[in-house]
Amino acid sequence: MMDWTDRHCRYLHRLLSRHALLYTEMVTAPALVRGGAVHLLAYNPQEHPVALQLGGSDPTELAQAARMGAGAGYDEINLNVGCPSDRVQSGTFGAVLMLQPGLVADCVAAMRDAVDVDVTVKCRIGVDDQQAEDTLPAFLDRIAQAGCRRFTIHARKAWLQGLSPKENRDIPPLDYDLVLRMKQQFPELHLSVNGGITSLDQAQGFLDAGLDGVMIGRAAYHDPAAILAAADPLIFGTGTARDAADIVHEMIPYIAAHLQNGGKLHQVTRHMLGLFSGRPGARAWRRMLSEGTHRPGAGPDLVLAALAQVSPSPPAPAACAG
Ligand SMILES: Cc1cc2nc3c(=O)[nH]c(=O)nc-3n(C[C@H](O)[C@H](O)[C@H](O)COP(=O)(O)O)c2cc1C
Repeated sequence: MMDWTDRHCRYLHRLLSRHALLYTEMVTAPALVRGGAVHLLAYNPQEHPVALQLGGSDPTELAQAARMGAGAGYDEINLNVGCPSDRVQSGTFGAVLMLQPGLVADCVAAMRDAVDVDVTVKCRIGVDDQQAEDTLPAFLDRIAQAGCRRFTIHARKAWLQGLSPKENRDIPPLDYDLVLRMKQQFPELHLSVNGGITSLDQAQGFLDAGLDGVMIGRAAYHDPAAILAAADPLIFGTGTARDAADIVHEMIPYIAAHLQNGGKLHQVTRHMLGLFSGRPGARAWRRMLSEGTHRPGAGPDLVLAALAQVSPSPPAPAACAG
């Protein structure tokens, strides 16, 4: 998620869940290919499995960017066909591409030719006055013919005029049923749903209804313990739920190394603010981290002092024999 997530966030999220697939924020192909912004590809090997999301609409340039991503070791290259911002539209990429399935197919075909890892697409159900019922299956069909087998569908339209990107994540109504119908129509495709999902129960409901995956954005960022820490046992059927306090301890060496390399404490801790959402002491944790991390010399000790403000997690309920 642009401006929110980065490699530090993904490192934290990977500690919370071994199996959730993590995505980079959108990196534009022009920035990589023409701008030489290879630093945008940097990540920690522990983040695997991790997908690189690209923005662009020039098949040759996207192929080159995909090659760079695969060369850097990303497990999947994802094309963004969902971002509605003006900046993105003027470069003709993101959601506006829902209007040009032929061009998206060319992009996907070029990217697939360039790399061995999966090339996937994240899209909306449609844009503006498109009849999504008709245009979405046509879009999926066209892009599938170009070799894309996995799609993540944000279950609302993007309205390209008059809404800010933020409004475009909330105001156009969600149509989960349409996404479910797409799975019935295209059983051979791997379809994940995205948009407005705020709990693992809700996610499990979509899997039970036949979808292949669920992508969670804002809720996972704001309350990573609720979404990611229990994802391995509840969704992937393996491991145990992680305790956020243990995760903080596991972050300490990472933070120390980041500081040693000249990084700033808040660059890492800003992603940790929501770790204790809903737990006693969460407010003190947030406050200490928000206020203290910019002070000269602030480091792991501050993080541990903030952690001391948080109550230990309650013990698991005893089994009842009666
Ligand atoms: C700050 C912010 C930045 C985002 N950046 C991206 C992005 O780079 N690429 C992308 O595919 N979606 C991006 N999104 C959209 C989310 O991936 C997701 O589709 C949307 O928030 C709906 O899902 P949610 O309700 O689970 O958050 C962004 C969302 C937010 C809030």
